[in-house]
Amino acid sequence: MMDLIKIREQFPILNQKINNCDLIYFDNAATSQKPISVIESISDFYKKSNSNIHRGVHSLSRSASEQFELARKTVANHFNIDNEQQLIFTAGCTDSINIVAQGLAKFHLQKEDEIILSTYEHHSNILPWQLWAKENKGVLKIIPLLANQNLDYDSIEKLITHKTKLIAITHVSNTLGLITDIERIISIAKKHQLPILLDGAQSAPHMPVDLKKLDVDFFVCSAHKLYGPTGVGLLYLSQKWLDKLPVSKSGGGIIKSVSFENTEYADGALRFEPGTPNISGVIGFSNAIKFINNIGITTIFEFEKKLVQHAQKKLREMPEIIMYGESDEKAGVISFNVKNHHPFDIGTLLDNYGIAVRTGHHCTQPLMQDLKIQGTVRISFAIYNTIEEINYFIEKLKKVIKMLQ
Ligand SMILES: Cc1ncc(COP(=O)(O)O)c(C=O)c1O
Repeated sequence: MMDLIKIREQFPILNQKINNCDLIYFDNAATSQKPISVIESISDFYKKSNSNIHRGVHSLSRSASEQFELARKTVANHFNIDNEQQLIFTAGCTDSINIVAQGLAKFHLQKEDEIILSTYEHHSNILPWQLWAKENKGVLKIIPLLANQNLDYDSIEKLITHKTKLIAITHVSNTLGLITDIERIISIAKKHQLPILLDGAQSAPHMPVDLKKLDVDFFVCSAHKLYGPTGVGLLYLSQKWLDKLPVSKSGGGIIKSVSFENTEYADGALRFEPGTPNISGVIGFSNAIKFINNIGITTIFEFEKKLVQHAQKKLREMPEIIMYGESDEKAGVISFNVKNHHPFDIGTLLDNYGIAVRTGHHCTQPLMQDLKIQGTVRISFAIYNTIEEINYFIEKLKKVIKMLQ
């Protein structure tokens, strides 16, 4: 049985007043808060082990290198990656997608090729492909939405042509919280021998992700959304792409040998990690994974599902509310609007009660255009949120709506 109080106590930031009210943090899809174990692992690194990694013969450097490579093993195990060399530490999800886009642009993507994305995509999984498309007369084909705001999976086969070279898709919509039927997309992709990039920014924090089972070509996520620090994330490459993807960022530390005429690059993950990496961030990332595993990612999913169901039920009872992407099977995110009121006004007034929500387009402007709205109010949960917080939020939301009338 999970001890919620003990879990909350591990998050020092939650124990404070905002505008004289207890902080209620419902902006976890933007970034989650960090447990003390993660915070201390970062400060401990600087207090006891700070040194640059790899190639150092002195003890501190060897200790830092060991911690860094152990972190790779911990994170790889969590995502069920057999060969941890397939796990590259990056600056985060956006960085990872750019590495793939720039690498594929060098040899996999030809002029006028096509890439399939979905209406749900975050700008981070649109712009790197759009940049390539603009320079290469490429075409981005978009999986449309059904009336219930789910993806129209039946349309995918029709979008595929002999020019299609990739499907790049989010695992969970950061705006709606809806979970993509990725198994269905994978089976379509395999039938057409198309590589898949899976954006796990919003799935990794909330649900089990088994990369061996999924067998996608590329998977990306950011540590800061899963209780880890900012500025660090991962790029998983299938074995085929680990050997094939060209380097797009270059520099020290990723080579076997260099002369002015030529460079022989290192094998494995190192090939994609030029320069001094975010060492403390990677250590913090692995401690965030340990925090998740101490609770269990399935426990987190089931718990957050209850929060979502409770909040949706309460919101449904309010006639002023319009909800988007309603479903009982969501990954911790709810988007809604209050009829005739701007989401910014709702968010600003809720802040007066210490409630942190996100308002706006959530970096999904094409989705907003499809839904014919400017933005939404988004509440998103983590393991430290409670039913009581939701009840307080609903009470204050009703007050805010009254105030605006
Ligand atoms: C679905 C999705 N993809 C990509 C990103 C980009 O993540 P980051 O800003 O950590 O690179 C986000 C961030 O909100 C996201 O929700």
